[in-house]
Amino acid sequence: MDTVNVGVVGCGNISGIYFQNIAAYRGLRLAACADLRHEAARAQAERYGIDAMPVEDLLARADIDLVVNLTVPGAHFGVSMAALRAGKHVFSEKPLTVDVEQGRALVDEAEARGLRLGCAPDTFLGAGGRLARRLVDEGAVGRILSGTAFLMSHGMEHWHPDPEFFFKPGGGPILDMAPYYLGTLVNLIGPVRRVSAMAGIGFPERVVTADSPRRGHRITVETPTTVMALLEFASGAQVTFCMSWDVWKHGHPPIELYGTEGSMRVPDPNFFGGAVELTERGGDWRTMDAGGLPLGVPNWRSPAWPAEAPSRANYRALGLADLASAVLHGTPHRSTGRLALHVLEVMHAILESAAGGQPVAIATAPERPAALEDAEAAKLWKGLPEAASAA
Ligand SMILES: NC(=O)c1ccc[n+]([C@@H]2O[C@H](COP(=O)([O-])OP(=O)(O)OC[C@H]3O[C@@H](n4cnc5c(N)ncnc54)[C@H](O)[C@@H]3O)[C@@H](O)[C@H]2O)c1
Repeated sequence: MDTVNVGVVGCGNISGIYFQNIAAYRGLRLAACADLRHEAARAQAERYGIDAMPVEDLLARADIDLVVNLTVPGAHFGVSMAALRAGKHVFSEKPLTVDVEQGRALVDEAEARGLRLGCAPDTFLGAGGRLARRLVDEGAVGRILSGTAFLMSHGMEHWHPDPEFFFKPGGGPILDMAPYYLGTLVNLIGPVRRVSAMAGIGFPERVVTADSPRRGHRITVETPTTVMALLEFASGAQVTFCMSWDVWKHGHPPIELYGTEGSMRVPDPNFFGGAVELTERGGDWRTMDAGGLPLGVPNWRSPAWPAEAPSRANYRALGLADLASAVLHGTPHRSTGRLALHVLEVMHAILESAAGGQPVAIATAPERPAALEDAEAAKLWKGLPEAASAA
């Protein structure tokens, strides 16, 4: 066997980049797709020359080896568990599940069945994440003592057509965006062992300004939109971790790390490319662009962005290709269910600490994933068919 047959469940917003990129990675073959909204599945199926079918039929198909779960977070557990019970490997969009116990049940089920469970984010495997990891492993900044992580903006209501769920329990900047930052930090520093946090709601009401049928709709905010946390890692490193949708503008880089020998700025963990900035002790910042490395070339821009915003590297499905390669070669994969479960536990602990006013200890402690070398990453990518790359 040199190819893993993929069935995609969930054909909404994020599915476009998955369908496009799955065709561009080695070891993956698109076989079928499903969605509760059959017309959404049919549209993707027609575009990619595959079959659209009900979820149960997709899970019953003997020729499908791996299910990619791109449904909404509330459906992640049900779809992933059903796929594992049907004997399929699973790769899920983030978060692994909404609640920690369900995430643990998925990890246990996969391990008991000898199946692979993977989960986004896989951005840390992109060119920017790999460059940062190599520099850390080579000791470029020495032992990491502390750092900062910032995701701050003014929310989602100006671009998302139906942003209500972002402001209700289960939404908020932690559950939606922290997986990218936590995945990257754990990949660089190792697991988190304790968190402490405060949170608030900056604007009790939001008004949808996106150009959509919901424009003008008022949303009552019911989940914290500013969360300030302190993370203590098992290594002893301490990181200030701020996620907010209440900020109009700021000047903080996404992630800065301070080591015994120097400092490092890690590229935006929501993307696969970017530049690492490095100083040795108190020297000047040195910029090292990952744009020339495999899976670092900018290839995508959001239709929601203003014209002056730069295009970015978006190689989503890289963790999926790594998982497929691991299935084919019997090696470990990197964006694992265990890593995603740790990220999920940390996110819930942050919210729990903010609500209760006490530090919260973290029980899970996964190993850092093995580093992905540039040559291995290059081998996974065969490139987009010409028609798709021109689109
Ligand atoms: N949209 C983005 O930019 C983005 C980026 C990164 C990650 N994600 C993640 O991807 C996932 C999907 O997000 P989205 O924006 O594509 O959402 P979406 O609402 O646009 O699409 C989700 C699709 O899943 C289908 N669905 C829901 N429950 C289902 C079920 N039980 N069985 C079959 N189909 C079901 C829905 O009908 C819908 O078409 C989320 O976990 C989100 O966090 C989204």
